[in-house]
Order: sequence, then C-alpha cells, then structure tokens
Amino acid sequence: MSDDDTGPYKILDEMPPTPRLPGSVSLFDHADGAIDAIGLDIVNQAKACVRSFGDFHLALSGGSTPMPLYQRMMIDPAFRDMPWRRTHLWIVDERCVPFEDERSNYRQIAELIVDHSGIPKSQVHPIHAYEPDADALYEDELRETLGWREKGHDRLDFVLLGMGDDGHTASLFPHSQALRVDDRFACFNRGPQVTPPDRVTMTYPLINSARFIGILVLGKKKAHMVHRIATGADPVRDIPIKGVSPIGGEQRWYLDSDAARWG
Ligand code: 6PG
Repeated sequence: MSDDDTGPYKILDEMPPTPRLPGSVSLFDHADGAIDAIGLDIVNQAKACVRSFGDFHLALSGGSTPMPLYQRMMIDPAFRDMPWRRTHLWIVDERCVPFEDERSNYRQIAELIVDHSGIPKSQVHPIHAYEPDADALYEDELRETLGWREKGHDRLDFVLLGMGDDGHTASLFPHSQALRVDDRFACFNRGPQVTPPDRVTMTYPLINSARFIGILVLGKKKAHMVHRIATGADPVRDIPIKGVSPIGGEQRWYLDSDAARWG
C-alpha cells in the first residue's frame, strides 16, 4: 500500500495483531484515533481526579509525536471539558537549554498549551534544566506540591510518555546513568549514551508511582522496537521503556497500525 492510500478516511483492509505489551494496548487504524483516545483518557482521568482530590497532576513529554495531541486539546470541542484551571502541568524531561531555545520541551508545550488553556501560571512547573541544581529543585517542587495531597494520593495522576526507536522514554536512554537512579524523583542524565544536549529527567520511581501512564507510539519507525518489546527478553538497560511499570497504577499503550505492523 502506498503512503497516499493511508489518508484519514481510508479503512485498512487488515489490521495487524495487537502486540502483547505490558499493561493494556489500544490499537487504532490511524494516528488520529490513538491521539483522540489518549486525549479523552487524559480528560476523563482529570475529571475523576478533580472530583476526588480537587486537582489533577499531569506530566507531559516532548518529542514530535504528542504535539498534534496538544494542539488538538486546545481546539477540538471533544476536549472542552478538560479542567485546566485545576490542573498542575509537569514536564517529564527537559534538555539543558534555556526556555528560548527551540529544543526546549517546555517552550513547545508552553506555545501549544500554557498560552491557550487558561491554566494558572502558578500551576505550571517547567524544569529549569540550565540551572546547576535543576534536578534537586524539581524534586523539591514535586514533593512540596504533591505533598498538599493526603499521603498515598501524593503522586502524579497521568504521565504521558513517548518512545524513541532505540527504546528510550523520557530522557532514560539505553545504558545511561539515570537508569540506575532509584532514590530520587528527578536527575540529570549526561554522558556518551545521552543524545545531546544533556537532560534532566523524571526517574523510574516517580514515573512508576503514577496513577496512570499513557504511552503514545505512532509510525512505522517505531514498529521494530514495539515488536522487540512484545516478543524479546531484552533487559531494561537495553530498552529503558521496559522499566516503566506502575506500582498500583494503570499503564496503557496507544498505537497506530503502522507502529504495530512488523514482518
Ligand atoms: C523528548 C521525550 C522523548 C520522546 C521520544 C520520542 O523530550 O524527546 O520526552 O522521550 O518521547 O524521544 O520522540 P518522538 O516523538 O519525536 O519520536
């Protein structure tokens, strides 16, 4: 099938089988379906958390995959119920560059969401990754803000992750030092295994304590890695996203058919 045949209205003749990934897997013909589904899950989780706790803690990733989702959440009436005024917005990982730099995740997320959603600025939590103690500062901010909640509920409510075609997620790169951090919520990640520039990233303990982890993986470039995760026995140090495993929370993958089709 040529790329021209895969426009949004084309029904695929055959869907690939759903890959057996840890957690649950939602598979869609097209990227649009996956984007809608994760967006609606964010809104539903947000409404439930606001009802239960009065607020909602959402951590967003950078990368190119979720940008159409962020855009759609601002303009599509299907997402108009999103309680932005009760939402705290966190950043999963950040490049060690100033916010003005076009590689800054915060810059991209701010342009798409912060500037248009009506979220109070005091509830937006960028990582100041260019500061020498950015990781400790972020950890303090997380502990202080989540600490307003009752013990046990003091965790992120929704962490949205992407995946690189090397199996990295957040800024947890294969064989990098941040994979070994088990006593902090955020840390720098540097060294030859890290795609430059240096990063600050949320760690496994923080990500895995979340109430809901949504992993959005789209496109055929990711199909090889999806297949390896579903069928192989590679260790976490080779495929860091395999270290994502919520303790008492829920994990869901949102895939399009291109990401699920292999062989
Ligand atoms: C980042 C991310 C990173 C991203 C993957 C996938 O800031 O780059 O947090 O983990 O999700 O690299 O990126 P793409 O969506 O661009 O493929």
